[in-house]
Amino acid sequence: MELYIFPVLVILSCTSCYLILPVQPLCHKDESIALLQFKDSLTANNSASRGPAAYTKMASWKAVENGTEADCCSWDGVKCDENTGHVISLDLSSSCLYGSIMSSSSLFSLTHLQMLNLADNHFNYSRIPPELGRLSKLTYLNLSSSFLTGLPSEISLLSNLSTFDLGYVNVSSKMPDFLVNLSSLTSLIMRNCGLYGEFPEKLFHLPKIQVLIFQVNSNLTGHFPEFRSGSPLRTLWFSRTNFSGIIPFSIGNLESLEFLSVARANSLQLLDLSNNLLSWITLPKCLENPNNLLSVLSIKNNSFHGTIPQMCLTDRSLLKMIDLGYNQLEGRIPRSLANCQMLESLNLGNNQIRDVFPSWLGQLSKLRLLTLRSNNLQGQLTNLNSTPQFPN
Ligand SMILES: *[C@@H]1O[C@H](CO)[C@@H](O)[C@H](O)[C@H]1NC(C)=O
Ligand SMILES: *[C@@H]1O[C@H](CO)[C@@H](O)[C@H](O)[C@H]1NC(C)=O
Ligand SMILES: *[C@@H]1O[C@H](CO)[C@@H](O)[C@H](O)[C@H]1NC(C)=O
Ligand SMILES: *[C@@H]1O[C@H](CO)[C@@H](O)[C@H](O)[C@H]1NC(C)=O
Ligand SMILES: *[C@@H]1O[C@H](CO)[C@@H](O)[C@H](O)[C@H]1NC(C)=O
Ligand SMILES: *[C@@H]1O[C@H](CO)[C@@H](O)[C@H](O)[C@H]1NC(C)=O
Ligand SMILES: *[C@@H]1O[C@H](CO)[C@@H](O)[C@H](O)[C@H]1NC(C)=O
Ligand SMILES: *[C@@H]1O[C@H](CO)[C@@H](O)[C@H](O)[C@H]1NC(C)=O
Ligand SMILES: *[C@@H]1O[C@H](CO)[C@@H](O)[C@H](O)[C@H]1NC(C)=O
Ligand SMILES: *[C@@H]1O[C@H](CO)[C@@H](O)[C@H](O)[C@H]1NC(C)=O
Repeated sequence: MELYIFPVLVILSCTSCYLILPVQPLCHKDESIALLQFKDSLTANNSASRGPAAYTKMASWKAVENGTEADCCSWDGVKCDENTGHVISLDLSSSCLYGSIMSSSSLFSLTHLQMLNLADNHFNYSRIPPELGRLSKLTYLNLSSSFLTGLPSEISLLSNLSTFDLGYVNVSSKMPDFLVNLSSLTSLIMRNCGLYGEFPEKLFHLPKIQVLIFQVNSNLTGHFPEFRSGSPLRTLWFSRTNFSGIIPFSIGNLESLEFLSVARANSLQLLDLSNNLLSWITLPKCLENPNNLLSVLSIKNNSFHGTIPQMCLTDRSLLKMIDLGYNQLEGRIPRSLANCQMLESLNLGNNQIRDVFPSWLGQLSKLRLLTLRSNNLQGQLTNLNSTPQFPN
């Protein structure tokens, strides 16, 4: 039996080889040349990347390998479309690249690119060339920590751009208005970009926007708009900016948030507005929503007044950190905080809270950091089961 089965199997598997093996198109010659030219325009330099996993990805890029023409689709960091063979993704993050990117760079002839990551390299303070606007299919663009500078308005031609990370790029300009033309944006990250001028309110209203990260732009002025119900906004990170004014009730108006599906109503996961000049008449009611997914609430050092909301009304709360320090909050410490079972750090210091020492906080087994100083608290702190530290 075996003698017969064996050859049959071999024949079968060989026929299927021919039938099934996809004809993987080799990388297009012009794109291969463009990639090699891009490689040649830069040098490999170990100090150009800081990421712990950095290495020279381009070292493996070679025109000819073992006497045959190399398929650039197999190069490190390069991905091609399975059907067309065009280069659609280039991930050269943390690749120890050093040198300027010029307008004439062959990079800009890779017009099929959908994903481009040049983060964590050193492009020698060269200005982001306007030609980047030619890569109109881009949906993901990451230039963070790249030592590029500036931001050309041609970026607004990238109509499908969904994620744009420009963190730590010295843009050093007035907050560009043309960003509001990027109507497909879901995440815009411009942390520490030296932005100044007025933040365009329209960015908050982009139809798909979920994440706006603008912290550490100390001269960036702005205010929060009335938030529309149905907004997909999930993360607002505006600490160390010059945002001012009143935070409209609508940001956390329980009614309007519940108007959305439960998933959306709870989509605010991180709210960090610390070190601004913001004031809130009262803190938003959504914090009292037992289904919210908030894990970090930091409004330290603003001028919020009113009472502290009844957070953690059930023990389902995910809050790990609450930092309300340096505001003008009044009233008592809500007893509901005893339900914040995940809470690791609580700062209520430097407010105008009048209460007795909340020894019931001892029920919080994960609490490691508690600051209550500079309030009007009576009595003694007792019955703490765990032993949190008390920073002064
Ligand atoms: C390597 O990169 C650093 C910047 O990270 C630069 O200062 C230095 O001049 C570069 N060295 C060479 C040999 O290009
Ligand atoms: C080229 O040859 C080397 C050594 O024989 C081998 O490891 C490598 O996989 C070959 N590359 C290609 C693309 O065939
Ligand atoms: C870095 O930029 C300076 C100033 O523009 C330029 O003279 C120099 O050639 C650039 N170095 C590299 C390696 O691109
Ligand atoms: C951009 O790249 C950096 C460095 O690789 C990474 O830390 C960051 O998460 C990326 N940003 C986005 C939005 O993917
Ligand atoms: C943008 O995306 C849409 C939908 O995926 C696609 O039809 C369109 O061709 C894209 N635009 C560009 C310029 O690639
Ligand atoms: C950013 O660039 C501007 C000039 O464009 C320069 O004056 C400033 O010092 C740079 N800032 C940083 C932090 O490198
Ligand atoms: C942005 O869009 C507006 C209206 O569609 C248009 O007038 C403006 O020229 C665009 N700006 C840029 C820089 O493309
Ligand atoms: C903010 O503006 C002040 C005054 O114009 C200037 O001195 C300071 O360097 C600016 N800071 C940043 C980070 O751009
Ligand atoms: C901060 O914003 C206020 C207005 O809210 C403005 O008067 C002040 O000039 C801004 N400061 C900076 C450094 O931009
Ligand atoms: C509060 O914020 C102001 C302005 O951003 C800053 O100068 C001050 O040091 C901050 N104070 C604390 C206690 O963080």
